[in-house]
Amino acid sequence: MSLLEVDDVVVQFGGVTAVNHASFEAEAGRITGLIGPNGAGKTTCFNVISGLQRPTKGAVRFNGKSVTRTPVHRRSRMGMARTFQRLEAFGSLTVRENVRVALDIHRGLKGIVKPSGSDLDSLLERVGIAAYADDRADAIPTGTARLLEVARCLAGAPRLLLLDEPSSGLDESETDDFGDLLKDLAAEGMGILMVEHDMDLVMAVCDTIRVLDFGEVIAIGDPSMVRSDPKVQKAYLGYSDLDESGEHVDAGPDVHVDETPTLVTPVVTGGGATVKEPSA
Ligand SMILES: Nc1ncnc2c1ncn2[C@@H]1O[C@H](COP(=O)(O)OP(=O)(O)O)[C@@H](O)[C@H]1O
Ligand SMILES: [Mg+2]
Repeated sequence: MSLLEVDDVVVQFGGVTAVNHASFEAEAGRITGLIGPNGAGKTTCFNVISGLQRPTKGAVRFNGKSVTRTPVHRRSRMGMARTFQRLEAFGSLTVRENVRVALDIHRGLKGIVKPSGSDLDSLLERVGIAAYADDRADAIPTGTARLLEVARCLAGAPRLLLLDEPSSGLDESETDDFGDLLKDLAAEGMGILMVEHDMDLVMAVCDTIRVLDFGEVIAIGDPSMVRSDPKVQKAYLGYSDLDESGEHVDAGPDVHVDETPTLVTPVVTGGGATVKEPSA
């Protein structure tokens, strides 16, 4: 039995089919990547999994139990935690206060009353944001704010961690440290499902990958299988990095893998609205 099972999920928004009969799993103790072009339906899948979006059709099972109709807060108590593409921390509180609030909420839910100082510090340290502990959350760099989101999730000791583009805004060494943290968490038994555009990070940490395109799962496999899958190459813009005038298009520092053909983050060109990602 998988920790998370997404079973034949369909999500329609009026005439747009955002998720089209998608089925995939995420296992405890493993890092599962969910990748695909902009507009492929990744965030909508996360919304269905976490309970923010009721699917038009299909089911979600967590730890063997159907949670398709379970409200968000109950899924959270059952051990699901997620970060958002747009940031959610309390801007007027410090980093430390934000994590303390999250810890206190989860302790309160579990009836634990002892003070949380040392756990708080070790959590900040572990996620790599201790240096920002006393800064207001609205004054820290975007990448750090994403790590703060992760720390707030970890405060609840989740069984399943859902990460939506966690590494955007992190530099290379911060991304490496973050990848190590994810591997450690998985080694401790946590299941991680990650939407991520940084292919180097995805290929380095994911045990297994699911590729979405136009709401459909078009590939499932380990990183090397997925990387060489022709359907995946095609979904990622026919592996060309040249624009119409023959100029090299800057695909950004983080969206290539070190093999040809190169995976680049494409723009959706038909069959569904082009999505402008909220700027972080
Ligand atoms: N609330 C919504 N209402 C209407 N269409 C939506 C909504 N959310 C997402 N969509 C559409 O669903 C598709 C998938 O979006 P999304 O899940 O955000 O993709 P991704 O996260 O892979 O970039 C897109 O065509 C998008 O425009
Ligand atoms: Mg998204």
